[in-house]
Amino acid sequence: MDKLVIEGGKPLSGTIVIQGAKNAALPILAASMLVEGKVTIDHVPKLLDIDVMLNILRELGCRAEHSNETVMIDTSSAASSHVPEELMRSMRSSIFLMGPLIARFGEVTIYQPGGCAIGERKIDLHLRGLMALGAQIEERGSRIVCHAKRLKGAEIHLDFPSVGATENIMMAAVLAEGLTTISNAAREPEIQDLQRFLNTMGAKIIGAGTDTITIEGVEKLAPCRYQVIPDRIVTGTVMVAAAATRGQVTLQNTNPAHLTSLIHVLRRAGVQIAVDGDIIKVGCANRPRAIERIVTSPYPAFPTDLQSQLMVLLALADGVSVMKENIFEGRFKHVDELSRMGADIRVDLNAAFIRGVPRLYGATVEATDLRAGAALVIAGLASHGKTIVEQVHHIDRGYDRIETMLGRLGARISRYSPIPNNGIAP
Ligand code: EPZ
Repeated sequence: MDKLVIEGGKPLSGTIVIQGAKNAALPILAASMLVEGKVTIDHVPKLLDIDVMLNILRELGCRAEHSNETVMIDTSSAASSHVPEELMRSMRSSIFLMGPLIARFGEVTIYQPGGCAIGERKIDLHLRGLMALGAQIEERGSRIVCHAKRLKGAEIHLDFPSVGATENIMMAAVLAEGLTTISNAAREPEIQDLQRFLNTMGAKIIGAGTDTITIEGVEKLAPCRYQVIPDRIVTGTVMVAAAATRGQVTLQNTNPAHLTSLIHVLRRAGVQIAVDGDIIKVGCANRPRAIERIVTSPYPAFPTDLQSQLMVLLALADGVSVMKENIFEGRFKHVDELSRMGADIRVDLNAAFIRGVPRLYGATVEATDLRAGAALVIAGLASHGKTIVEQVHHIDRGYDRIETMLGRLGARISRYSPIPNNGIAP
């Protein structure tokens, strides 16, 4: 398993271009199954999760290539609607294939994706939405088999504005007979991107970005070429890293409108933020101020995917901050690791009480999930001394060579891959 070795204490400075959004690309790649032919998606970063999605599409009979951030998928020869269990379990987002496969083939076999470090990750809202559209769903242990001759439009209300369930239902409904409305829909920018992609292929969807989405079913879609939006979570991660290291960083290819909650919080902490079109400039010369209370909630509120990264900045702030995690029940696993670096954080149920300390110290720490791993990298950059971050594959799921990206900003960070054991005793 790869490790990252970080020599901390150096402010980040310089300019970087932000990668395309993982959480926009994944449902869009799955949605390519809705159409027969060649779909080209630009600005797709090289990530482990993207690799898994492309391997699943290949298993389903598609041809898929990924070079220079462009993915070409030819779904003409797709013939299977059975998502392999081992691939399903390796990436929960494979659940996004349910909607497109049942819409195209009238059937799909998937497996319970299982929980992960940050929580149980249920899929009941996905299944209930597909059943509302007329799918028969049979659960046989972890295997889930769905059938539907042709899906019929329906009025669907989500008990919780689930991002994935909203996207899955949208994709299932585009070829359904009649009108579908999704109320209490999630409003994330990635859902708006999916709407734009589907409409580019001839779908008739309105309302993404609001809490009510309407989909008028069509007979057929046509292949297209499309570019995904910038990754707002990678953008936010770099912004926090710049602030935590008291650096001066310019980020290009961003969409500041997708980060209003983070920008507001960072300004309250005393970080200088300047926005000009798709450019965000971040600077922090002094010790950040604590923030009395931050609560993660569905978009456009403060995103759960930036909670662990912001906690590092608050761990170094002047004063006590309180952070409440309202989305995932297991998303404080980075706290123990930060405490090993000298942070003073107490967790009580879904609240973290963060008493800022003047400095953190390098240590050997372990990434437990994607964003917790990113937070530990930020902590290493902001600490005095050397930090080793283990289990880096978690980070590679969502960041395209994080050490290269941050190295461009002057970070002293290197990746070490263990020499494969060739059977010869050391
Ligand atoms: C998406 O996950 C993102 N992943 C997550 O990003 C993100 O944290 C999350 O949305 C919230 O913004 C992708 O887009 C690939 P949810 P998703 O369905 O769709 C409960 C990252 O770091 N729920 O909105 O799985 C669920 O348990 C990842 O990039 C149900 O109860 O999120 C959770 O508590 C991590 N039943 C809450 O809703 C369901 O059927 C939010 O889940 C579905 C969800």
